[in-house]
Amino acid sequence: MELKRQHLIDPVVCIRCNTCEETCPVDAITHDGNNYVVMAEKCNFCRACVSPCPTGAIDNWLLVDNPWSIEDQFGWEELPLGETGPTESEPAPLPPEEVSDLLAAATATTGPRVPAPASATSPYVALYSREKPVIARVAGNMRLTADGAGSDIHHVVLDFQHNAFPFLEGQSIGIVPPGVDDKGRAHNIRLYSIASPREGERTGFNNLALTVKRVPGGVGSNYVCDLKKGDEVKVAGPFGQSFLMPDDPEAHIIMICTGTGAAPFRGFTERRRRNAADAPGKLMLFFGARSPEELPYFGPLMKLPKSLIDVNLAFSRLPGQPKCYVQDKIRERSADLAVLLPQAKTHIYICGLKGMEHGCDEAFADICRLNGMDWASLRATLRQEGRYHVETY
Ligand code: A2P
Repeated sequence: MELKRQHLIDPVVCIRCNTCEETCPVDAITHDGNNYVVMAEKCNFCRACVSPCPTGAIDNWLLVDNPWSIEDQFGWEELPLGETGPTESEPAPLPPEEVSDLLAAATATTGPRVPAPASATSPYVALYSREKPVIARVAGNMRLTADGAGSDIHHVVLDFQHNAFPFLEGQSIGIVPPGVDDKGRAHNIRLYSIASPREGERTGFNNLALTVKRVPGGVGSNYVCDLKKGDEVKVAGPFGQSFLMPDDPEAHIIMICTGTGAAPFRGFTERRRRNAADAPGKLMLFFGARSPEELPYFGPLMKLPKSLIDVNLAFSRLPGQPKCYVQDKIRERSADLAVLLPQAKTHIYICGLKGMEHGCDEAFADICRLNGMDWASLRATLRQEGRYHVETY
């Protein structure tokens, strides 16, 4: 019997973020209260959903004689065993010598469609899951925004003690909130970007920091923001194979963020500061917040040497001043960006509010137009080469 390839979502790794369903151009993805699933009769294997998936749960392809129905998939706790089907237009799997037994057992994915920067170190992915989490201990929880500021943003440090939790700058972790949801089921994991460099929040301490904003009524953010020193937290991950820092001191890194979108860039900046403070590659940060009081890490950011990082802050709600967004600051720096954009070692990362994506795109298009470059083709090249990464929500 001829086997057919079927696209499936791994319910263990999936964090039910709805990204795949939003992305699918042919509406082949749907969900119930339990699982996100792919309709075999609609999926045309275009892979549009693969790259945006924050965990890699989407990247599963099985050879089957009869495709699984969505009713079958709704009932799954895990993927059925089966022969893995071929995946198209993907980078080759990592060579075995580069992955530990643990990684090989934990992930069958072969890489996202927007590749990681060529120089990025190979990440470990999904070493721990909602069902098999690692227990981290809260080493500290600090409010970052000023008392009385509109946003309540916390810096939470998790200590993995004797458990291995290797991660890279730009990856995320999943937190499993305790208790059950209103239907009596265990909560889905909540994903947070790591704000530390790979050596840990403190080098050699096997720990990492998160930057979390309290969302009124939010199960995950309130749980994390209320954690106390010594509390034990169930952690899944690490996740993310694409939004990684180039491991190249010559790389110019343009970082654009709003609010807690700054978390991965804190990791990037610390990595450079600790390991290559006099690197020839430039770090350029565009950071948007309502005011200095609402900007996480404002104080430490202001203390960084200008030779390490070129900081551009955009405040939108300063009394008596017009609104300023990151895209306005990008335009202000046209002359310098026009020099950086065409360079082969320039990387762009955007993280934060979804709304800024379009504004940044237009700002880069304007800079290119004024300087004899075509942004659409430049952006396509950057994407193809793993030098343009967007993580917005
Ligand atoms: P605004 O004052 O207009 O909301 P938040 O504090 O809600 O996380 O937002 C972080 C910053 O991002 C704020 O300064 C906010 O401005 C700004 N912002 C909101 N929408 C956009 C957008 N479309 N493009 C760029 N920045 C934006």
